[in-house]
Amino acid sequence: MAKVTVLMGSPRRCGNTARLVRAFADGLDARHEFEILNVAQLDIHPCLGCNACFHNAGHLCPQPDDMARVYRVLADTDVLVVATPVYFYGISAQLKMLVDRLHNPIRNSFRISRMVLLAVGAATLPQLFDSIVMQYRLCLHFFHLRDLGSVLVRGVKEAGDIEGNAALDEACRLASTV
Ligand SMILES: Cc1cc2nc3c(=O)[nH]c(=O)nc-3n(C[C@H](O)[C@H](O)[C@H](O)COP(=O)(O)O)c2cc1C
Repeated sequence: MAKVTVLMGSPRRCGNTARLVRAFADGLDARHEFEILNVAQLDIHPCLGCNACFHNAGHLCPQPDDMARVYRVLADTDVLVVATPVYFYGISAQLKMLVDRLHNPIRNSFRISRMVLLAVGAATLPQLFDSIVMQYRLCLHFFHLRDLGSVLVRGVKEAGDIEGNAALDEACRLASTV
């Protein structure tokens, strides 16, 4: 059974990212174990850049926060789904803090092999997701992961704007291929 973990990066629990994640989850089935980490609800501090985790026993971070739980979840995850709103052309700060904490050799014990990107933003400009997609591709390469696909949704601003959007079916279909 493949374990699918979503990093839900929006602080709006009933917003467009959360709705897109729900549509993705609808496409999973009994072959999958599924967990959503609501990143904004977790107590995650920014990386201090001290590199203590490279030397400490068990790669322990000196900051005792919810990353210990995140590391445990990622250790037995096969498919990582990164879900974020566009915040100033990048991923949300809440999600970025978590990603930065993967600057820890404990990541070498993770069994993640595949990744999916889900993103939403208010603008309709073609370049809206360029920097997020570039960061996603570089992370695929860095972590030696296979890309399973992306769903990128433009023109959704207020919570609920995504309702009725064809992207919901797209996310559901994508999940069925995982
Ligand atoms: C801090 C902040 C920065 C944002 N920056 C952008 C942006 O650069 N481009 C854009 O199109 N939308 C931007 N938005 C709008 C959100 O991407 C949009 O409202 C999205 O639907 C929010 O997703 P959510 O409902 O999952 O929180 C921003 C919103 C916030 C709160």
